[in-house]
Amino acid sequence: MKKYLVIGNPIGHSLSPKIHNYWIQKHNLSDSLYEKRKLEEKDLKNIISEMREGKINGINVTVPFKKTIIQYLDELEPTAKKTGSVNTLIKKGDKIIGHNTDEPGFGLTLKEIFQKKNITPKNIFILGAGGVTSSIICAFEKLKTKIFLTNRTREKAIELKSQYPEITILDWGKIPQTFDLAINTTSVGLNHKERLNLNFDQFKGDKEKIFYDLIYNPRETNFLKEARLRGNIVINGQKMFLNQAMLAFNLWTNIKPEIDNNVIKLFEND
Ligand code: ATR
Repeated sequence: MKKYLVIGNPIGHSLSPKIHNYWIQKHNLSDSLYEKRKLEEKDLKNIISEMREGKINGINVTVPFKKTIIQYLDELEPTAKKTGSVNTLIKKGDKIIGHNTDEPGFGLTLKEIFQKKNITPKNIFILGAGGVTSSIICAFEKLKTKIFLTNRTREKAIELKSQYPEITILDWGKIPQTFDLAINTTSVGLNHKERLNLNFDQFKGDKEKIFYDLIYNPRETNFLKEARLRGNIVINGQKMFLNQAMLAFNLWTNIKPEIDNNVIKLFEND
């Protein structure tokens, strides 16, 4: 039996098991199973030992362990190293190697969305400085964009700036004068009732501004709902989530699974 896991805390919202198990069935990998497990930080060492012993074949890592997991790994592939963020673990020989499929997953998503909408965003406003944020900045580095970033805890934003000196840090609550795309990378919104205390009222009726939330479950966070009501363009994290999952599945199985309509339906049935 081959066992795959997504680990995080909270983990209830994760649709990774549904998506991966759909691909597992589609590709007749009947000896494989993908599950979710809620962990505490103290459990990370043990879970890596389980993987080392061959009891687990692959792991996806989500909030809030994308950085803290690194200390228990043997090697990092270049993007994981550059971003300091790991979301996929593979075993090579007796080594556990950390990969980052968020960065290329987001890069692919940007291409798909912006080509389709024929948009070239130049000024990006990033909210948050958590585990996934460096992957988002890294994906934008390849495009010629100006990045503004704000985080409730300023020190964490400054830490990111030492890694990516080109970004401009704004105090929490401040909004840049010009931006084409605002991206929520914080965890605010995973819970339906949560909302960010930022005011975007001045963009009412602006049909060009894009508000993008990395959260895909719930499908519409308050960040997106408020933008939709203002008349802005809204996009949720579904495409990025699927792209990072597709790349992780490929690392484990060498199969590039298709993001077909049945996969999209798995979100609708949730
Ligand atoms: P970690 O900080 O351990 O990497 P994360 O879940 O990846 O965890 O990141 C959470 C992100 O959501 C951070 O940017 C966090 O802001 P802080 O650095 O100030 O903690 C942000 N976040 C979480 N709750 C928030 C809230 N109520 N208001 C604003 N930002 C919040």
